[in-house]
Formats: sequence, structure tokens, C-alpha cells
Amino acid sequence: MPTNSATRDKLLTAAREAMNHAYAPYSKFHVGAAILISGGKVFTGCNVENASYGLTSCAERNAIFAAIAAQPAGEKLAIEAVAVATRPASAAAPCGACRQVIAEFAAKTGVKVFYQGADGTKESTIAQLLPDTFSF
Ligand code: THU
Repeated sequence: MPTNSATRDKLLTAAREAMNHAYAPYSKFHVGAAILISGGKVFTGCNVENASYGLTSCAERNAIFAAIAAQPAGEKLAIEAVAVATRPASAAAPCGACRQVIAEFAAKTGVKVFYQGADGTKESTIAQLLPDTFSF
């Protein structure tokens, strides 16, 4: 499934909307993520923090886990593209843990990841963000 500019814009819009749902009273850093999956559906997630800081859940993984819960039983999720939005809009690529989870469910190594770079939206692939992915 190719990722064109219309798809990118749609995903970034969905990520920004999801960002408005973030629960981030501790870091005040709001994150929204949107993932496009094989078949064309889009799932979103936001970061959810906790007074016990280590329990915080990232937006990207929340989006992926919501998609898995909505998959037909026994069917592996296949992610086609990911978009991440942040407020404040500082450069923020997905964290290492989220990269590993994206890689686990990526439809291909060339899956596009869109996020805020130093000069606006940056486009990368999961293979560029996480070379030598752990697997066994
Ligand atoms: N965060 C995400 O949601 N995604 C990432 O990839 C990195 C960090 C969240 C976690 C925490 O709520 C806030 O950003 C600051 O670390």
C-alpha cells in the first residue's frame, strides 16, 4: 500500500486530533499518534501519564494496541504508516520502545513514519529509525 501525500496529511490530522486527548499533567508534553493499517483503517492513540511516572504509556503504543484489539481474532496487525504529533511542536521522533513495537507489526521495513523534525514534518522509515530490530 503506497503512502502518498494525501495519506500523510490525513494521518497527521488524525494524530493532531488524538493529541488533544493526551493526559500529560506531569510532563505537559502532549503526544498523538495515528497508524494506517492494511485494509485502510486508521487507529489513534495519545500519551497517558500517571503519578507513578513509570506507568506512562506512549501515544504510538496506545494506537497500536487499540488496533490490535480491533483486529479479527488470530490476524496479525500490519502497519502501513505512522504519524506522530506533539505539543509543544518540538522535534520528537518516536522513542526506542515505540520503534521496536512499530517494527514488530510493520507490514514492511519501508513503513513510513511521519513526525515533527527540527524544520517541520520529517519523513523516515521504521528501518531507518530502528536498524537491526530485535527479533527471535
Ligand atoms: N511520549 C510519547 O507519547 N511517545 C514517544 O515516543 C516518546 C514520549 C510521551 C511519554 C510522556 O507522557 C511524554 O511523552 C514525555 O516523555
